[in-house]
This record gives sequence, C-alpha cells and structure tokens, in this order.
Amino acid sequence: MKISVAIDGPAGAGKSTIAKLVSKRFDLMYINTGAMYRAVALKAQEQNLEPENVQEICNIIKTMEMHFENDDLILNGENIQDKITTPNISSIVSGYASISEVRAILVKLQREMSSKFSVIMDGRDIGTVVLKDANFKFFLTASPEQRATRRFKELQERNIECSYDQILKDIIDRDHKDTHRATDPLKKAEDAIEIDSTNLDINGVVNVIAEYIGKGK
Ligand code: DC
Repeated sequence: MKISVAIDGPAGAGKSTIAKLVSKRFDLMYINTGAMYRAVALKAQEQNLEPENVQEICNIIKTMEMHFENDDLILNGENIQDKITTPNISSIVSGYASISEVRAILVKLQREMSSKFSVIMDGRDIGTVVLKDANFKFFLTASPEQRATRRFKELQERNIECSYDQILKDIIDRDHKDTHRATDPLKKAEDAIEIDSTNLDINGVVNVIAEYIGKGK
C-alpha cells in the first residue's frame, strides 16, 4: 500500500533529520521540500535575480530537473546538497519561497513525486497544502534557542564559520517571514499531531512518529 507522511514545522525543529530516520524505518522516499526552495534561491542568486524578478525566476525553474537520491537533492545531474545548506542561502531563501508563482510550480512537482512513491515529505505547507490527504501529519516544534543551538552545532561540525547570535536572529526572522507570508504560511494542519522536541532527543521523536505509523493511525 502506498502511504504518505507529512512533517511540518519551523526552521531547525529537526524535521529533516527525523524524516530521514523515519524514511529508513518504513522504506519511504524522503522529499525535502525546503531543499527545492533553496535550489531556486541558489540558481536565482547565481543569475543575480532578486525575488522581484518573478517571471525570470519561473523561467529558470522550468530548466531545473530535481530529484532526490540518498536524501540529497540532485539538480540537473549535480548533487547540490552542500551548496544549498550554507548560511548565505538560509538567509535569502524565504524571499524566494514567498513568491506565489514559485510555490505553485514546486507544489505541483512535489505532488507528482508523491503520486508515484510512498513518501515522507517535510516543509512548511505539506499537511495544509501539498499533501492535504496525507495518511499521517506531524507538526514539529522546539524553542528558537534550542533550534539555533542545533543549527550552530551542525554548521560547526561542517567547519562553516558562524555565530550563534546570528543564527538565532536568522531563525526568529525566518519564523516571522514563514508564518506571515500571504501564500501558504507555516501553520499546523488541524489534523496534525504536534510534537514539541525541545526536551526530546532525535530518537525520542522518531519513536513517537514510528508508533503512530506502526499503529496505522
Ligand atoms: O526547511 P528549510 O530551512 O530548508 O526551508 C528553506 C526555506 O524554504 C524556509 O524559508 C521555508 C521555505 N519553505 C517553504 O516555504 N515551504 C516548504 N514546503 C519548505 C520550505
């Protein structure tokens, strides 16, 4: 049976780490929709296109073939995972993710992916827009400080220079933009199960989710 799992929540709530682990347990394809918005920001920046250049950005997206391999985003044959997870892309991506025309194109691609495979998809609008009929919906939260601490450690491990205060500021700023934009703002779907991970470790969250999926409800 084909199933779909939606995981939404703010930046740094642990969605991607958790979605990857759940995907392995239940043999689901992991689709990281934030990576797709990041890829658009990367390409737009490479071509000096500001978020106001809507038509040009939409034209670029039409030339972008995106799929996931081993959880990484492959764009036109190139693994761009490292290029899109830099503080630079994090700081510009919400400007591009708030363009309704961009969202319409990416939502269509995401729905096509889920129509072919059993998926676990994470993002901001999965339970409310992309996969409204998902079999399972989860909404992950954690305090901004806890999320900033996690991002800071992750970047340090990759030897990317960063400051905790700047990351916290970016997270608060991004939360505001993601929840206040006109199109598909971040919000919990009414039928989503909310999990606050501030005081739970990764396995704790994975186990909660796995229990729901295992029970089939
Ligand atoms: O999850 P992330 O930090 O990689 O997401 C990058 C940006 O894309 C973030 O500003 C929110 C936005 N996004 C979105 O608007 N809708 C999604 N489904 C996924 C991400």
